Amino acid sequence: MLVAIPDLLTVEEVREVRRILEASAWVDGKATAGEQAAVAKKNLQIAEGSPAAMQAGDIILRALGRNPIFHSAALPLRVLPPMFNRYDVGMTFGAHVDGSIRTIPGANMRMRADVSSTLFLSAPEEYDGGELVISDTYGEQRVKLPAGHLVVYPSTSLHAVTPITRGSRWCSFFWTQSMVRDDGQRAMLYDLDVAIREIRAELPDDKRAVVAITSHYHNLLRRWAEL
Ligand code: NI
Repeated sequence: MLVAIPDLLTVEEVREVRRILEASAWVDGKATAGEQAAVAKKNLQIAEGSPAAMQAGDIILRALGRNPIFHSAALPLRVLPPMFNRYDVGMTFGAHVDGSIRTIPGANMRMRADVSSTLFLSAPEEYDGGELVISDTYGEQRVKLPAGHLVVYPSTSLHAVTPITRGSRWCSFFWTQSMVRDDGQRAMLYDLDVAIREIRAELPDDKRAVVAITSHYHNLLRRWAEL
């Protein structure tokens, strides 16, 4: 399941993150890729754990904390500190699957990557190419969103970034360990939550059907969640 989340960051927050990144050094993106991904990966990144990455990452983590769609779609248990990448002309990332286990920097702890996220920091008009192509159950999805918008998708999916032919594409990316490991179960909970929100907009919260369907959501989550 792929979910696009509009306006995760405000215009001011996008500007602030960009300002931090513009003042930072970029390193070869192969540094954080596994063996297969390193061959396919041609981009630049802000060094993981650098002060700039932490400062810009905090802005994103705060925005995630206040976003109900992210919570509903990812059911986050842990979020790895956001990282930042940049694709200039000729840069690309061929088909790959993200590594399954990640080390949380500075915490001496590992986590499972269940949900991958890409947050766009460049406007689509600033570059040509650079589409995020995600293969899911329904075929290939091509994603290129306005600055400040986020896309979340299962870390199990094969994905790629097409070559840049003009301009520069800046993004943040990060991984989430979900309380619900299975993509199918997570997608069912998300669909149910969306339906509940629609029903609650039509019916009073004490209506028997609203109480029943809300209980059902929580009882499914109780059954499937691992903490
Ligand atoms: Ni990836």
